Amino acid sequence: MTKLLSKKVADSRTLISQLMMPNDANHLGTVHGGVILSIADKVAYVCACRHAGSYCVTASVDRVSFDSPIKVGQLVTFDATLRYVGKTSMEVGIDIYAEDLISKIKTKTNTCYFTMVSIAQNGKPTAVPSLLIETEEEKAKFEEARLRKELSLKYARGKINSLSS
Ligand SMILES: CC(C)(COP(=O)(O)OP(=O)(O)OC[C@H]1O[C@@H](n2cnc3c(N)ncnc32)[C@H](O)[C@@H]1OP(=O)(O)O)[C@@H](O)C(=O)NCCC(=O)NCCS
Repeated sequence: MTKLLSKKVADSRTLISQLMMPNDANHLGTVHGGVILSIADKVAYVCACRHAGSYCVTASVDRVSFDSPIKVGQLVTFDATLRYVGKTSMEVGIDIYAEDLISKIKTKTNTCYFTMVSIAQNGKPTAVPSLLIETEEEKAKFEEARLRKELSLKYARGKINSLSS
C-alpha cells in the first residue's frame, strides 16, 4: 500500500461567504439555526475532501451554540480548518462570522466542530493523509480536538451520559 503524504492545515482551509436572504429567516426576522448548520456541513465537507482527496461523510457534529443572532442582509463567513486527523476521521472546526455590510461591523457568532470520515469506493472508511502541525496554536487545537473525539466516542458508545463529564 502506498504511504499517504502529510498535508498542512493551510492546504485544506476553506472560506465561504453567503448573504442571508429573507427566505433564511424565522418569524423574528433573524436567521434559522438550521440554515447556518446546513451551510456549515457543506463547508466541512469541502475542507475534509480537500485534505482526504476522497468522498467524506459527516459522522458527528459537536458543540453547536449560537452566541448572537444573525440578521437578514448580513454576510456570513465560514472559516473552516482541520483541527485533528485520525486514521480515517478528521475534525473540521468552523468559525462563523456575521458582517453588517453597511457599518462593516463583523461579529463572531460561533464555532462548531464536524467529524468527517473518508469513504472509499467500497463504502468503507479509508485512511487519510496525516496532518502536518506547524504552529503552537495548531498543536493546541489538535490536542483539544483529540480530547473532544475521545469524549464524543464515549458518549456515542453510551459510556457517559453527558459531554461535560
Ligand atoms: C461515520 C461512519 C462511516 C463510521 O463507520 P464505522 O463503521 O463506525 O467506522 P469506524 O468505527 O472505523 O469509524 C471510522 C472513524 O470515525 C470515527 N468516528 C465514528 N463515529 C464517531 C463519532 N460519533 N464521533 C467521533 N468520531 C467518530 C472513528 O473513531 C474512526 O476514526 P479513526 O479511523 O480516525 O480512528 C458510519 O457510521 C456512517 O456511515 N454513518 C453515516 C454517515 C452519514 O450518512 N452522514 C450524513 C448524515 S445524513
